[in-house]
Amino acid sequence: MATPSLVDPFQRAITYLRVSVTDRCDFRCVYCMTEHMAFLPKAELLSLEELDRLCSVFVGLGVRKLRITGGEPLVRKGIMTFFRAMRRHVESGALDELTLTTNGSQLSRFAADLVACGVRRVNVSLDTLDPAKFRAITRWGRFGQVLDGIEAAAAAGLGVKINAVALRGVNDGEIHDLVAWCGARGHDLTFIEVMPMGDLGNEDRLDQYYSLKALRRDLESRWTLVDTTERTGGPARYARVLETGGRVGFITPLTHNFCESCNRVRLTCTGQLFMCLGQDADADLRSALRAHPGDDAPVVRAIEAAIARKPKGHDFDYSRQTVAGRVSRHMSHTGG
Ligand code: GTP
Ligand code: 5AD
Ligand code: SF4
Repeated sequence: MATPSLVDPFQRAITYLRVSVTDRCDFRCVYCMTEHMAFLPKAELLSLEELDRLCSVFVGLGVRKLRITGGEPLVRKGIMTFFRAMRRHVESGALDELTLTTNGSQLSRFAADLVACGVRRVNVSLDTLDPAKFRAITRWGRFGQVLDGIEAAAAAGLGVKINAVALRGVNDGEIHDLVAWCGARGHDLTFIEVMPMGDLGNEDRLDQYYSLKALRRDLESRWTLVDTTERTGGPARYARVLETGGRVGFITPLTHNFCESCNRVRLTCTGQLFMCLGQDADADLRSALRAHPGDDAPVVRAIEAAIARKPKGHDFDYSRQTVAGRVSRHMSHTGG
């Protein structure tokens, strides 16, 4: 096993790379994008070969978990070629996990191929079980298609974790249904506090905010939650739901900052590395990659220099009844 060689100034080993392979998506979730987004010209994107090269350099530097995100990763043309290429790092044991976060719309088509590429688990965003609400949140999404996708994933043998952003006045009345629904199907469920990314007005964000402290209290009126120490490598803290036997996770950037144990960085589809989801610090890896086609050493140096600038954490804060620490780029840019 490679010793982790990427260690940031706060002694955190960077072993988790999230790669946004496209900024495009077939949905327009209200907390993630505007309805009329301007997408990057295709020429700006790293090619699938360049993505392979860059991810492989990261794996060589001790990254053990690779999560493919977007936009919607499964709408990138040829993406299965990339997954197939990454399988070698799973097979060699260099990667503990190759996985993705998806809106589920294309899972019916790709679930079996993903399994063949060494993917064992997928995270699917699903904030509501009500088709009309689903439409309102995703603007363009088709609820039935996502349910079919989740079913196809499970049938293909993939573990499924459902991600639900907690939104007051939107899905706060459904938290019990979500726990029951996921529990009955054997899916993990994580709730996420809504983060101030993108250009939504301040008031909207504050009005929508449903702290997971409150949400957990509300859940406990009906379910028995027992904290577990199980981790999946991401920021969620999990509890076991005794009544269903399922797991519920809590991702709490607002009520409990988890940056101290951060292990990850994010690569965008143009080769920009963001060292923190909640900060603007970035590094251009595409230049190093393209300037040295046959030599990874300069790329390694660029990555190491970037990690040396990883910020301590995000500054998201709603506690003074205002939105602090907002980041102007959209979630779809960095892939959540
Ligand atoms: P697991 O491998 O299942 O643990 O997944 P994960 O939580 O690492 O990934 P996922 O893509 O499911 O992310 C769920 C949510 O957690 C997304 O909304 C992310 O934006 C949020 N999240 C993940 N990492 C970070 C982080 O470093 N900082 C913040 N603030 N949020 C994060
Ligand atoms: N706050 C919290 N989570 C968000 N996601 C997208 N935008 C936001 C936001 N503003 C979630 C998606 C997906 C994950 C990658 O990020 O629902 O599950
Ligand atoms: Fe890591 Fe930044 Fe996320 Fe905190 S906000 S966990 S430092 S990426």
